[in-house]
Amino acid sequence: MLRTLRQEDSHIYNLIKREEKRQVDVLEMIPSENYTSKAVMEALGSILTNKYSEGYPKRRYYQGNTIIDEIEQVAQGRAKKLFAVPFVNVQALSGSPANLAVYVALLKPGSDKIMGLSLAFGGHLTHGQPQSATGKFFLSTLYTLGKDGYLDYDAIEKQAIKEKPKIIVAGFTAYARIIDFEKFSKIAEKVGAYLLADISHIAGLVVAGEHPSPTPYADIITTTTHKTLRGPRGALIMVTEKGLKKNPELPKLIDMAIIPGLQGGPHDNQTAAIAVALKEASTLSYKKYASQIVKNAKVLADELKRYNFDLVSGGTDNHLILIDLKNKKVNGAVAAFALEVGGVVLNKNGVPFDRMPPFYPSGIRLGTPAITTRGMKEKDMGKIAYWIDIIIDEVQDMEMSSNKEERTEQWKNYKKNVMNNKKLLVTAKEIQTFCRKFPL
Ligand SMILES: Cc1ncc(COP(=O)(O)O)c(C=O)c1O
Repeated sequence: MLRTLRQEDSHIYNLIKREEKRQVDVLEMIPSENYTSKAVMEALGSILTNKYSEGYPKRRYYQGNTIIDEIEQVAQGRAKKLFAVPFVNVQALSGSPANLAVYVALLKPGSDKIMGLSLAFGGHLTHGQPQSATGKFFLSTLYTLGKDGYLDYDAIEKQAIKEKPKIIVAGFTAYARIIDFEKFSKIAEKVGAYLLADISHIAGLVVAGEHPSPTPYADIITTTTHKTLRGPRGALIMVTEKGLKKNPELPKLIDMAIIPGLQGGPHDNQTAAIAVALKEASTLSYKKYASQIVKNAKVLADELKRYNFDLVSGGTDNHLILIDLKNKKVNGAVAAFALEVGGVVLNKNGVPFDRMPPFYPSGIRLGTPAITTRGMKEKDMGKIAYWIDIIIDEVQDMEMSSNKEERTEQWKNYKKNVMNNKKLLVTAKEIQTFCRKFPL
């Protein structure tokens, strides 16, 4: 029992060490990722993982939960204060089960409808996409963005009036602009729907006042805890004063949807780590951090535009940037692969009105939460844009065929060329040296 991981399982130990080095040596720019604090990881790796505690504080199915009750209540109290809400459930294991729990709490399978942004336009799978359980078990209607890459509230209102959804989801995976929760709430009120604000991406910006809060407007708020909020993987489901007024049963329905509806025992180590992250997120230094995320993203967007990158919606108001690569004649899959070889880790992404399939989309998505945690500032964004440009320049004109077989063959050849590209390997070295100036 006393053996360390290294002694017990050197294979996994070495893999973790290699991953640790990778995380240190690259520009980590996936907008949904971050580096958690040592304190969060300590709670996550604690003996709390040993406990079973089905139920809720003071209402458990197992004995021995006095301390776990306290931990869960601390997490609840901190979340309520930070988001200014009267109710929170901290047990959902991650963002997807949190959203599913809201639907299980409020919708009749097969007859009630979810209205969310289409995945192809930046919505999440769990906002009613047909591939997800949320679109299979419940009816759904998906809205899109306007041609300018912004939310089109008039079109959303028309669709809501026609489709009569029971839940409208506001909150996205790849949207770089401010969300007008007040407009969404007016639409939801008009059609008698609940407004669910899924702030998974922007929660950290919301608590720091860098993005308007949905609390006065939404009925229910869900968020992951591991993106801008910088906690462990996990989620919160919150009910606002407005939601409580509309339906005082919401807290009970949500608690019941989590257990017995969808889960058994909560992950108490995760709950404790969420509590730690919430404490960190209420500090002045976190507020400065969140403000720096947005400053960095705006400067990076401007720098990228100087290299003729075409940004969806023309820029950003938050932590992320979506680049349409069509003018660079390179596909998002090739670009993301080349960028990783060159030391910049981000993800391929569809762009609004994309004609390409999801595996070979026309864009890439990147963000500043993780590099800002490392201490990078506005002055560093110019260098990052320069490296991105150098890398993309190397793979320019690697467009994918619209024919499936040809595409598979092309992809294999592109990968081989990219992995052996000297300029990319030199860039990766430069980035490694640069990153080591920002120790984790
Ligand atoms: C808006 C939004 N909601 C929900 C989720 C799901 O979170 P998880 O991956 O933890 O299930 C994500 C994850 O990317 C997201 O972006």
